[in-house]
Amino acid sequence: MLGWQVHELGEPADVLTWGEIPDPEPRPGQVLVRVAAVACNFPDILVCQGKYQEKPPLPFTPGLEIAGEVVAVGEGAAAKVGDRVLGTPPMGRGGYAELAVLDAESTLPWPEGMTPGQAAGMFVTYQTGICALEHRGRLQPGETLLVHAAAGGVGSAAVQIGKAMGARVIGTAGGPEKCAVVKGLGADEVIDYSSEDLVARVKEITGPAKPGRGGADVIFDPVGGDIFDASRKVVAFEGRILVIGFVSGRFADAPTNHVLVKNYEVTGVHWGFYRTMKPELIPRWQQRLDDLWAAGKIDPLVGVELPLREAPEALRRLGSRGTTGKVVLVP
Ligand SMILES: NC(=O)c1ccc[n+]([C@@H]2O[C@H](COP(=O)([O-])OP(=O)(O)OC[C@H]3O[C@@H](n4cnc5c(N)ncnc54)[C@H](OP(=O)(O)O)[C@@H]3O)[C@@H](O)[C@H]2O)c1
Repeated sequence: MLGWQVHELGEPADVLTWGEIPDPEPRPGQVLVRVAAVACNFPDILVCQGKYQEKPPLPFTPGLEIAGEVVAVGEGAAAKVGDRVLGTPPMGRGGYAELAVLDAESTLPWPEGMTPGQAAGMFVTYQTGICALEHRGRLQPGETLLVHAAAGGVGSAAVQIGKAMGARVIGTAGGPEKCAVVKGLGADEVIDYSSEDLVARVKEITGPAKPGRGGADVIFDPVGGDIFDASRKVVAFEGRILVIGFVSGRFADAPTNHVLVKNYEVTGVHWGFYRTMKPELIPRWQQRLDDLWAAGKIDPLVGVELPLREAPEALRRLGSRGTTGKVVLVP
């Protein structure tokens, strides 16, 4: 098959090599999938650089999130040829190629009617959104949800899921073009945090963060750093700040006296850990997402779709803060 391999560590554009590589073989319990689309994620860049927490042996193929069709079934795998599935290939034998293997028991059905790019790109981001907002954040209809980096991958999913759950959604993003994208996703209010005073604007929209009077009930934060600090100032009485990621590069502190005085929660969200600790929740969340998709309440945003051959360019764009929604590659 054709695909990308990394033979030495470095910047993706320097170390990704395209060419003929051996077809992967499905082991017992696995399926072989013809990749219809692979979503790009920040860890794909880090793994090429050798900076990701997991370090696959060289040479390896990146790509953590795929949609595809089963073309062969390993011994004992509960699947059949022709099934259209979503899944995460094993680290190092990833989806930046024409074929990939998946553990059959962890695959999920490809939602009916979704394009390959949407199906590949919705898996981790929308699972994270539903896990965060419904399970960890207990978002209620009528509550105010503040979503940071709302034009990005997880942010765009959180805006749509929040609206579908009946929340009033405020999205933040950097720059007018990204703000227009957030509005298009259905956010009720949008704040350009590259030019506006975030705290003042949230207070203006919701009222001052005093008991029973304003502030954001749930805050979805993939950014951290200064954005987390600002979030503490605008979280409502009994609010929940959901810690999703740290794209700012700084882990913020949450002083416990402040948490106590204002009666709020700082809640960690690590979706991937649920796959080990409570795997039974994953298909349940997927069913919720399928229902929302079928009802027209979510519509995954693919901001960049490129041929698989252009993986280095896709990763360059992803790494330079220049993308909206998901970045996907199609063989
Ligand atoms: N907790 C979980 O289970 C889970 C699951 C999936 C992903 N994540 C994490 O969520 C984070 C976002 O992932 P994503 O796929 O949504 O990424 P993404 O699509 O690249 O979006 C990230 C956005 O963050 C904003 N941002 C703010 N400050 C930034 C900075 N200093 N550098 C770069 N971007 C900055 C940018 O939007 P603006 O220009 O609008 O500010 C950027 O577009 C990552 O840390 C990822 O690891 C967590």
